[in-house]
Amino acid sequence: KRNPVDAAKRRAAFYCAEKHVSDGCHLGVGSGSTIRHFVDSLAARFKEGKLKNIVCVPTSIQTRQWLLEAGLPVSDVEQTPELDLCVDGADEIDPALNCIKGGGGCLTQEKIVQSCARRFIVVVDQSKKSSRLGEHYKNLPIEVVPFGYASVKRKIEASEGGKCVLRMAKQKCGPVVTDNNNYIIDWEIPKEGSKDWSALHTRLVVIPGVVETGLFIGVAERAYFGMEDGSV
Ligand code: A5P
Repeated sequence: KRNPVDAAKRRAAFYCAEKHVSDGCHLGVGSGSTIRHFVDSLAARFKEGKLKNIVCVPTSIQTRQWLLEAGLPVSDVEQTPELDLCVDGADEIDPALNCIKGGGGCLTQEKIVQSCARRFIVVVDQSKKSSRLGEHYKNLPIEVVPFGYASVKRKIEASEGGKCVLRMAKQKCGPVVTDNNNYIIDWEIPKEGSKDWSALHTRLVVIPGVVETGLFIGVAERAYFGMEDGSV
């Protein structure tokens, strides 16, 4: 039996796949546990012959493996540079559909694939909904080049306040290493800080050593929330 949160993620993912993915779709496929369900939905329809000629561009090595295991056609942004749609999860989403992403460490490839898509749709369970980014998730994931992590951390703390923590791998003795061989800094967003997320992203991304931030601002056209009462 699925736990209620996972069941809610699955409902949102299935709803979105059925409503928005049709024959011939060039599709960006996000990362994370909600997207695992999205892949299941695509795979079921594809196997039954109800979804034809789709091309899937994954945003992580893990998603690529899921797509390949499911027998779905896999491509990349080099061979398929223009996508009709990208669907992804999020760690937190505000009323303007601005998102924090990167809880699973895949933010840079997620943002590249999203930037190649005409439409971006988010699938989440209800716990991801917030009135202000940072309300629940607290941290902003930032991908950094390993050589620069200490100077990036110092500069962010000095200029923006809050604390930066280098993300460590569970039960291992070193940092999390992303699909791009980089590190992740989790910056605890100061409560009293600015709400101009776009300006914040711009300030952070120009710090030498920063590769990308987990702020996805003004790009989602809609979001589907799986609710624990069974609705989407
Ligand atoms: C991966 O790095 C993230 O951006 C995910 O999209 C996000 O963490 C949502 O993951 P879940 O669907 O597992 O909650």
